[in-house]
Amino acid sequence: MSQQTRTPIIAGNWKMNGSADMAQVLTEAVSQGISSLDAEVVLIPPHPYLSMVRGAMASSQTLFKLGAQDLSAHDQGAHTGEVSGAMLVDCGCQYVLVGHSERRADHHESNQVVAAKFMAAQRAGLIPIVCLGETLAQREAGQTDEVVLGQLDAVIAVAGIQSFERAVIAYEPVWAIGTGKTATPDQAQSVHASIRARIRDNSDIISGQLRVIYGGSVKPDNAEEILSREDIDGGLIGGASLEASSFLRICQAAC
Ligand code: PGA
Repeated sequence: MSQQTRTPIIAGNWKMNGSADMAQVLTEAVSQGISSLDAEVVLIPPHPYLSMVRGAMASSQTLFKLGAQDLSAHDQGAHTGEVSGAMLVDCGCQYVLVGHSERRADHHESNQVVAAKFMAAQRAGLIPIVCLGETLAQREAGQTDEVVLGQLDAVIAVAGIQSFERAVIAYEPVWAIGTGKTATPDQAQSVHASIRARIRDNSDIISGQLRVIYGGSVKPDNAEEILSREDIDGGLIGGASLEASSFLRICQAAC
């Protein structure tokens, strides 16, 4: 399956930014601007604003989706402060990020924890967007593929290859996140091709269907050249998703 037959995804990861007012205004502005796009657009606000953002989304937009930034590996019970996949579904989510590098770093989430969260998301009926990426030191040591494919293999080992029928992979080099340094289109394409090849080793069909999106300082000015590459099926956008006009220009570049 070629890139043309995989519907691109642009996901806006707001991280821990904004306020209730900002969430309302930003969602309405994005909602009005995406009326005629062929991309799936996912807004990923902080947990407290999920229901509000869902309410502010134009209901006529079938390609306009809600996602969460994290979930618990547990389904319910005595886990103070955690949010289950079922709760996110109750709030209207269809997607959830797992293994974002900020959670791997700040919360010491291991590959095993990420795999457990991936499974929890799918048990709840959510589509996990599993984030993979190497640090600058790892890239400079020539370990990019080893690290990224190791993170992927850890999920495949636990969840099985069939689970990738209902998943998205985000390749996000850690050194490009929030730094203004973007991977060159060639650097990104090369890792995306390695990820797809690893999936193909397990299932030809799934490798053709699976969407692998890029994240790390994607901006309106560099979006088109990155998103047009063969194995890049969209973007996970941090900083530029906090401004409606920037985010919409990136969405347009994906179509
Ligand atoms: P950035 O963040 O676009 O601000 O680099 C991307 C991400 O962390 O998802």
